[in-house]
Amino acid sequence: MLYPERFSNLPAHAWPRLRALLDVHEGGGPLIQMTIGEPKHAFPAWVTDVITQNAAGFNSYPPNDGSPELKEAIVGWIKRRYGVQMDAATEVMALNGTREGLYNAVIALCPETKNGKKPAILMPNPFYQVYMIGAISGASDPIMVPATAETGHLPDFHSLPEDVLQRTTAAYICSPANPQGAVADREYWTNLIALAEKYDFKIFADECYSEIYRDTPPVGALEVAQALGTDRNRLVLFQSLSKRSNLPGLRSGFVASGPDSIREIKQLRNFSGAPLPLPLQQAAAAVWNDEEHVEENRRLYAEKYDIADRIFGNVPGYVSPEAGFFLWLPVENDEEAAVKLWRETGVKVLPGSYLAQDVDGENPGQKYIRVALVAPKDETARGLDLIRDCLYSS
Ligand SMILES: Cc1ncc(COP(=O)(O)O)c(C=O)c1O
Repeated sequence: MLYPERFSNLPAHAWPRLRALLDVHEGGGPLIQMTIGEPKHAFPAWVTDVITQNAAGFNSYPPNDGSPELKEAIVGWIKRRYGVQMDAATEVMALNGTREGLYNAVIALCPETKNGKKPAILMPNPFYQVYMIGAISGASDPIMVPATAETGHLPDFHSLPEDVLQRTTAAYICSPANPQGAVADREYWTNLIALAEKYDFKIFADECYSEIYRDTPPVGALEVAQALGTDRNRLVLFQSLSKRSNLPGLRSGFVASGPDSIREIKQLRNFSGAPLPLPLQQAAAAVWNDEEHVEENRRLYAEKYDIADRIFGNVPGYVSPEAGFFLWLPVENDEEAAVKLWRETGVKVLPGSYLAQDVDGENPGQKYIRVALVAPKDETARGLDLIRDCLYSS
């Protein structure tokens, strides 16, 4: 019964839950969509030219791990961004967006028992939903670790009991964090790497929001690992063009790690992978090689951070995000706030509890709503004004 049980009890996904919550009501105004983290700024206009110029590639099965050009572009970006030289042939692999890689990582890299026990996979709570399903699919226990205001919105994995750490095979960590916008600093990464070395587990570093920041680029797990001399195989980095380059529909990302880990991931992908079509890989290579559009993207988000700070600066509990493009706004009750907003203003947001799991009867997202700042500036500003007037003006 193990296999059916892995999937028969999955919780409902956030989006169907949201539809069930809101669609039974009339919206109170023209729809302003602030639920999904789907970037709406323009992607570079030349992306479509690259795809057209390389359209003959649709005639070929694409290479499973990524074309040499794409892997070189990825390695070049890692070097520029983190100062770490990786080997294109053995230490990176192209992904169809990071979601796929984050899901498959447990299956590819985590043993089915550890110290004679069922493995544990650690993750923050709230968290990107794929982490939990990745753990369950890999026959492991997902262990939700609070990432709340008390812990600086990052999980304190050191607080876990010894027996859990002894059976831990991997920890997912998202920095900059979705939904809170918190950034793991060098000390955080150093401590996490030390814990992973002590208990011999892997770190799955989801850094897909790393390019959307204010002034200082968030430090990356890879550069900390390199400075510490950590075995690269312990650290598995996930990156994406979805947020950096406003290309969530291109489905292009990558995974980077040491050669042993990448070999295992490639081996799984040889059987189960659905690689990105070659013309799209060519486009992805060109996008990784360009920073101009990324700088412009950051400028647009900076304007929206400023608008958010102006509107919510006086709201008790408001934390201006360090990075990423979400606001994690405090409310009394997340579902009630989302319904009220929709019915009275036409703004749709996501209840925070839909991104978290109950632990000991408490859901760390229940007193928050997540607001995506992805729409154009004026629409975003209009939405934020409506949220303030509806939820925070007394
Ligand atoms: C934290 C986090 N990780 C991963 C992803 C997956 O992104 P993609 O598969 O588009 O690269 C998302 C998308 O919203 C995300 O928020």
